Amino acid sequence: IPVDTFDLVIFGGTGDLARRKILPGLYRRFLGGQMPQDSRIIAAARSDMSDDEFRAQVRAAIEEFVAADKRDAAVIDEFVARISYVAIDATGENGWAQLKDTMRDGVIRAFYFSVAPSLFGAIAERLSDHGIADPQSRIVVEKPFGRDLASAKALNAVLAQHFAEEQIYRIDHYLGKETVQNLMAVRFANILFEPLWKAQYIDHVQITVAETVGVDGRGAYYDTSGAMRDMVQNHLMQLLCLIAMEPPYHFDPNAVRDEKLKVIRALDPVAPEDIVRGQYLKGGDQDGYVAHSGNPHSRTESYIALKVHISNWRWKGTPFYLRTGKRLRARASEIAITFKEPPHSIFDDAEGWRENVLVIRLQPNEGMNLMVMIKEPGPGGMRLTQVPLDMSFAEALGEEGEDIPDAYERLIMDVIRGNQTLFMRGDEVEAAWAWADPIIEGWERRGDRPRGYEPGTSGPEDALMLLHRDGRRWREIRE
Ligand code: BG6
Repeated sequence: IPVDTFDLVIFGGTGDLARRKILPGLYRRFLGGQMPQDSRIIAAARSDMSDDEFRAQVRAAIEEFVAADKRDAAVIDEFVARISYVAIDATGENGWAQLKDTMRDGVIRAFYFSVAPSLFGAIAERLSDHGIADPQSRIVVEKPFGRDLASAKALNAVLAQHFAEEQIYRIDHYLGKETVQNLMAVRFANILFEPLWKAQYIDHVQITVAETVGVDGRGAYYDTSGAMRDMVQNHLMQLLCLIAMEPPYHFDPNAVRDEKLKVIRALDPVAPEDIVRGQYLKGGDQDGYVAHSGNPHSRTESYIALKVHISNWRWKGTPFYLRTGKRLRARASEIAITFKEPPHSIFDDAEGWRENVLVIRLQPNEGMNLMVMIKEPGPGGMRLTQVPLDMSFAEALGEEGEDIPDAYERLIMDVIRGNQTLFMRGDEVEAAWAWADPIIEGWERRGDRPRGYEPGTSGPEDALMLLHRDGRRWREIRE
């Protein structure tokens, strides 16, 4: 569905995110006919540059980040013709009058803050003082949205001085992933799962986001963050919410976000013995974390596993095990829901029995796998065996499944549509920090050091214990 005509201003238009994700994503939507022909993109950044110089950068970004079969010379020409550039001083006065003159009346105005959070306030203030933003305008902000509750509150407060909550789109790009949205479709568009979706029938849940990349190239940022702030407080928290929340009354922005917020508020504090932090070691000729971070004494974690409890009627007693890390053995994100045993077995083959597990593979090889028990074939009596009911979304959807938009494409179009369902509300972000803060403060106060782990493995050995001592096992990390 095409969206209304817009003027999209990208602050930080020459930055890495714009080059890798935002501009290539907009090009793909343009190619797909979703971006109205008369819409425009205005990049704003510090350097002096002509429109043509910036367009050359956009062409290079498309060359690098858009698949060859999607690069159509004529369409690229049309696309870059929609783009202009304004040199702007985010904390000064230069460029703002020019930006104001560039904006058109009667179209949607959106402002993407692809800049350091320390500039959010200055930009928001200038947009409103110069009358560049109108009450229908939207602003888009990226993570990190604060590094603790106090800084997140300060950011929310500074944005709230100039914009209403309905105008603020806080991006968590995990919510833009097709398979993450599928969590809601699977849960709430089928009758099969929801009756069993509770502590009574679910033994435990594992949420894994494993990466093979290290932090090389962004070590300086990462070392002030770590896996808890970089991944758990936002991306894994969102996954947890979608799995654990009550059914919203409607697929509506505030109905969905109200339910997610209730989950976050119901999270118990996490005991130190329920947390394992790790840091990848040097491996072969590959540098380890401390070399990448440039801090030989770093205590920042590149891996974390935690056991989390949700104190509400639905989940009391069912642990959620979360883990994420860099330089692990495979890039694989999945959610695995392990069900309890049937109340009574009528078969003698107790040893053959395995739990039902529903695995939702988020990336790569997106799909679902339900492990079910059947009879082992043959005349040997009623012996049991477990088999997968396996579905790959790409195969099941055929051609339709081939052209799945990248998370950013989807989210930017939602901004233009004015749909906040897949964006974090201010109170949600604050609640997530309120939960994360004491956990982080705890290990900082105790001076805990992360455990070293070999690159290419599943993380530190201690993380295995987190489940072993509960009589459970992590699923193997594999593509
Ligand atoms: C980002 C984190 O938000 O998400 C990165 O800052 C991480 O550290 C990335 O690598 C993972 O995203 P994806 O889409 O590759 O799973």
